[in-house]
Amino acid sequence: MEFKNLLIETADGVATLTVNRPQALNALNSEVLTELASAFYQLEYDPAVRVVVLTGAGDKAFVAGADIKEMAAMSSFEGHQFALKGQHCMMAMEKMKTPVIAAVNGFALGGGLELALGCDFIYASEKAKLGFPEVTLGIIPGFGGTQNLARLIGKSRANELIFTGRMITADKAQAWGIVNEVFAPEELLVKARETAAAIASVGPLGVTYAKNAIANGLNMGKEDGFRYEASLFGVLFATADQKEGMGAFVEKRKAAFAGR
Ligand code: HXC
Repeated sequence: MEFKNLLIETADGVATLTVNRPQALNALNSEVLTELASAFYQLEYDPAVRVVVLTGAGDKAFVAGADIKEMAAMSSFEGHQFALKGQHCMMAMEKMKTPVIAAVNGFALGGGLELALGCDFIYASEKAKLGFPEVTLGIIPGFGGTQNLARLIGKSRANELIFTGRMITADKAQAWGIVNEVFAPEELLVKARETAAAIASVGPLGVTYAKNAIANGLNMGKEDGFRYEASLFGVLFATADQKEGMGAFVEKRKAAFAGR
């Protein structure tokens, strides 16, 4: 499928998905959200793709937020629909069997930070700036940011970031547990793709089930989460990947996983 605002490049099991609207610092309008949802679906069912790296075009922004010019004219009903549409994208990433790594190459603000938080984990460039400036516009985050950030870093830090609308550096975001690693700008994509390749080289069903166990388990009580983990663990013993992975260990050879 051809996209107006997205670029997709695939090599060795790793797809790089780039939000490509640099004239608006990759801001998310309704059209970009529609395209992102289609792209996630396409990538999830592309047998050539095992991991996705999500980034922004240009050297300034990952995504500078939802499109303020489009939102400025929205009615209450349209605002609600727009929030639901963005949330659908974030949920689509969480439900995808394919892991998604955010490579935050510049501003990740508002809906842009929400997009990064919707990914499985975040790498950032030294020059990235992250924040939720929504309160400066008289609104709140609406693409799941209040929920995902508070679950990730706890209520106090989420409150401070969201109530002030301030931007933080990549280093502070790392210290707060939002960002896993910070790299020089020219290293960011290389490192994100290296990690993606490492994930692409292990058993794909194991990765998918681990993602599923962690994402769904976070929405459960601990005992239910333990039970859920044990059932997924058991299911994997019915797969060729488990036979291959353990067989290869015993036979001292490299496993060749088929993903089934
Ligand atoms: C629409 C945007 C935009 C945005 C930047 N642009 N961010 N357009 N929506 N979120 C456009 C600018 O209008 C400008 O286009 C071009 O991109 C370059 O931006 P500048 O402002 O000229 O760049 P600079 O001076 O370097 O400032 C960078 C910046 C600033 C600090 C990131 O652009 C900024 O504050 N942007 C808005 C950030 C923000 O508030 N995001 C949260 C949005 S609310 P023109 O053509 O005008 O020159 C949100 C809600 C999510 O995300 C939930 C919804 C349900």
